[in-house]
Amino acid sequence: MRPPRRGDRIAFDNRQGVVVLEFGQPQVTIAIVFGVLALAIAVLALVIATHAKEDIPYEDVSRKGYRFRRPWLAFLTALLVLTVGTSFLLLPYASGGRPATVVKVSGGQFYWTIDPAVLPAHEKIAFDVTSVDVNHGFGVYDPDGRLIGSVQAMPGYVNDLRLTFDKVGEYRIRCFEYCGLSHHNMIASFRVEEGRE
Ligand code: CUA
Repeated sequence: MRPPRRGDRIAFDNRQGVVVLEFGQPQVTIAIVFGVLALAIAVLALVIATHAKEDIPYEDVSRKGYRFRRPWLAFLTALLVLTVGTSFLLLPYASGGRPATVVKVSGGQFYWTIDPAVLPAHEKIAFDVTSVDVNHGFGVYDPDGRLIGSVQAMPGYVNDLRLTFDKVGEYRIRCFEYCGLSHHNMIASFRVEEGRE
């Protein structure tokens, strides 16, 4: 068996459109890294447990551990502020002027209405997302089955999601909030085309 390469399929076909996980995609990479680290920690714990000879007083252990804990907490806090702060800059929600193209999106049990359903590529598009009954989740997948944006569809509110599409093709919508027995059937799509105007 040759080693896995980018482009290999390891999971596919959920009936309503193919979702493909490939080696090289972030979620697969994260799963592998997590698995390897978890295994390494388990092995380390096993080695330490089997090689431990005599009991060490708890105070000795905790003194050393607590010395390490404070800087570790400071490091994690700094990391949290940095990563969360950075992610705020990338939020896809309303900022700046209204884009030229505004799409009216409405969720209901159990359907989506999307108007217009053919959109231009390479320009910022505003999705005005609401619901006629209960909360739904508006999740947008690109033609390769990758999730590229999501926002809540809530009755009585209009949430504004801004996306720019660089790939032409069919984009799929799935409901992201459990909303009733046919939640899984809330699938719709729109097309992105080159140079519509
Ligand atoms: Cu609508 Cu789940």
